[in-house]
Amino acid sequence: MSTRIETYEQYKAAYEASVNNPEAFWAGVADQFSWRRKWDKVLEWNFTEPMVKWFANARLNITENCLDRHLAKRGSQPAIIWEPNGVDEPGRVMTYAELHSEVCRFASVLRSNGVQKGDRVCIYMGMVPELAVAMMACARIGAIHSVIFGGFSAQSIADRLQDAGARFIITCDGAYRGGKDIPLKNTVDDALQTSGGVERVIVFQRTHTAVSMIKGRDVWWHEEMAKVIDSGVTEAEEMEAEDPLFILYTSGSTGKPKGVVHTTAGYMVYATYSFENVFQPKEGEVHFCTADIGWITGHSYIVYGVLCAGGTSLMYEGIPTWPDAGRFWEIVDKYKVGILYTAPTAIRSLMAFGTDPLQGKDLSSLRVLGTVGEPINEEAWNWYNEHVGKRRCPIVDTWFQTENGGILISNLAGVTPSKTSYATLPLPGIQPILVDEQGKEITGNDVSGNLCIKFPWPSVIRTTWGDHERCRQNYFATYPGYYFTGDGCYRDSDGMYRITGRVDDVLNVSGHRIGTAELENAINMHTGVLESAVVGYPHDLKGQGIYAYVIMDSMPDDEPHTRADIAQTVARVIGSIAKPDKIQFVPGLPKTRSGKIMRRILRKIAEGELQQLGDVSTLLDPSVVEIIKDGRL
Ligand code: PRX
Repeated sequence: MSTRIETYEQYKAAYEASVNNPEAFWAGVADQFSWRRKWDKVLEWNFTEPMVKWFANARLNITENCLDRHLAKRGSQPAIIWEPNGVDEPGRVMTYAELHSEVCRFASVLRSNGVQKGDRVCIYMGMVPELAVAMMACARIGAIHSVIFGGFSAQSIADRLQDAGARFIITCDGAYRGGKDIPLKNTVDDALQTSGGVERVIVFQRTHTAVSMIKGRDVWWHEEMAKVIDSGVTEAEEMEAEDPLFILYTSGSTGKPKGVVHTTAGYMVYATYSFENVFQPKEGEVHFCTADIGWITGHSYIVYGVLCAGGTSLMYEGIPTWPDAGRFWEIVDKYKVGILYTAPTAIRSLMAFGTDPLQGKDLSSLRVLGTVGEPINEEAWNWYNEHVGKRRCPIVDTWFQTENGGILISNLAGVTPSKTSYATLPLPGIQPILVDEQGKEITGNDVSGNLCIKFPWPSVIRTTWGDHERCRQNYFATYPGYYFTGDGCYRDSDGMYRITGRVDDVLNVSGHRIGTAELENAINMHTGVLESAVVGYPHDLKGQGIYAYVIMDSMPDDEPHTRADIAQTVARVIGSIAKPDKIQFVPGLPKTRSGKIMRRILRKIAEGELQQLGDVSTLLDPSVVEIIKDGRL
């Protein structure tokens, strides 16, 4: 598309234009897409309610932008290349024409199963192309999808189904991930024991394991697809720009995960614009984003952004270390990957195997490397640069959040300067500011503060599903007038941004976002637990580890056993990604006289900074601090 920025000068000009006249700027970007009807007004907004509307009254369908409009020029170009978990199984390639046909057919299946515009459809699948097909089939008929990461538990699925009011769920019999077969359908069945309201379960057959199919409720994907006689074009529903496209649940500092709502036009425009400019893809180049589609990175940079831009998206079913630590490099070599986009935690886990797994793999096709999900430490950045990129590939350190829809702060590959462990500069349209605890803007350079954004961009969160007040409280109330990210940030003397991590009670474990309140709720459900407090601590591989302080009704006789049981409860309630790394049994927690847990002290102890606990004299019972210090794991 012609809104591609190719030089640093062009970046500066685009940035300035986007700030001086945002409406004209975004109208120019949006002009590149295919609309049934154009907008009446580019932007209406206030960050108080909040209310944000982009491209109001425009009409479109995102799948016509991802698929139909590419058919003439790119019908036979690969849209999705799929690499299975197992090395002996052949991969699959779906051209734009094939993907279009699959999406149309499955859209027809959804319609014949009763799915209507505006219905919520949960998707709990492994990383197979049919997951992308299912998402786009929903979008084709105007249903709102909500993808649930395959590592979440039955309870988490039930919570999401209920919150979204979903009557439909699409799943697989099972999923292959590394050496494991994950029983997805069984987990869905467990979820449906506690959550009513689901009328139809559509099951894609992947592992051919035995599953129970409930009469009248469960149907097979392949059987339903076979019933579609006319595999031609399923007419795309004409959507209003602000109609919800999807809900994606994410953790916050309080309560259960909330459903972040993204809408059709703004999300499409920003996901595509950011993909094009950050990664600078070339025609026909293979883009390999290693994220799971269950996260926002997968939504935007495996599916929507890449396909809207007419790119080729490589989707990998497995994990980086299966069957060995050379797998990513083998995939890069096999498919001549041009852009590799992964997470610091994956780089660190591969780094631990040294450079042997890289030997004999031709990585010369690589042109751009990307990282996302957590701050990248210098060691990992250097290893990625030196051993993977051979010092000739720009590394884009891309910062964003589920609530943002697309990358907000990052260098543009080969176009704007990069700096180790800095996300660097905002994309055009993004106006970051740093504020102090009182919400006062911190101006100038070489300063640190809480990161806020002061102007809307097209894919900013619109609401949290079913609870707009929660959206306001979480993001727009802490610092009135601004969107608050929850991240701390340093702006260096050149005005470059370095994200330093969450300043709220949200942990980032292997790039997975988990709330401490959720973790504590899960731990407290375990028999015998009276109270708990969870904090993060630096972890070599995961970035952050989970440290839980737990008060039991009586000290356990067999501590390791009780620890394992508690971890199991957390896995059951949330999912195995949330298992605590350390559980320390304590007789009490450091609390103020008003009963508030002093997490600052617990964090310092978990980090091993025992000398810097600060003033503990205001605690209800200061002696408990000494006991906790002594028992530190
Ligand atoms: O703390 C930031 C961290 O991940 C959080 C967002 O998590 P989630 O909504 O799950 O989205 C992750 C993928 C976009 C942020 O608040 N984060 C994300 N990217 C970076 C990062 N921290 C530092 N550098 C990044 N590049």
